[in-house]
Amino acid sequence: MSITLEQAIRNAVETERGANSFYAFIAQNTSDPEAKKFLREMAEQEKGHADLIEKLGKKLVDGELPVHADSFVALQETAPGWKFAEDISLVEALQIAAEAEQGAMMYYEMLADFFPEPHKQFFSGLVNAEEEHLSVIDAKLESLAVR
Ligand SMILES: [Fe+2]
Ligand SMILES: [Fe+2]
Repeated sequence: MSITLEQAIRNAVETERGANSFYAFIAQNTSDPEAKKFLREMAEQEKGHADLIEKLGKKLVDGELPVHADSFVALQETAPGWKFAEDISLVEALQIAAEAEQGAMMYYEMLADFFPEPHKQFFSGLVNAEEEHLSVIDAKLESLAVR
């Protein structure tokens, strides 16, 4: 893989936008109020994430980012197999999110591996953010398992 810093940041922004659309979309595939609420909150978080990455990224490169991703990254932080599932339960919603968050972590780890310091840090920060999402989700899953 070879990618410029500017392009990698744009790809990260589009990854987060893809995650936002994905969560918003599958929130419609459930009538469970808790599952819906959780998925909508995830969608909001990912949107915030996209905006923040774009803002910090522009600061980091001190200029504009490319307009488009250079590859199909919109599915990196999703769980595509679930897109047309019906009546998603809260546990399923959490499992879907765990899969999506892991996907994002792997993608950002690949970018973090590619860039030397100091820019490695930017992508390691994204890995950590997704890891945090994942641990919140895992904790919720565990609490449901003992309920
Ligand atoms: Fe994300
Ligand atoms: Fe995430």
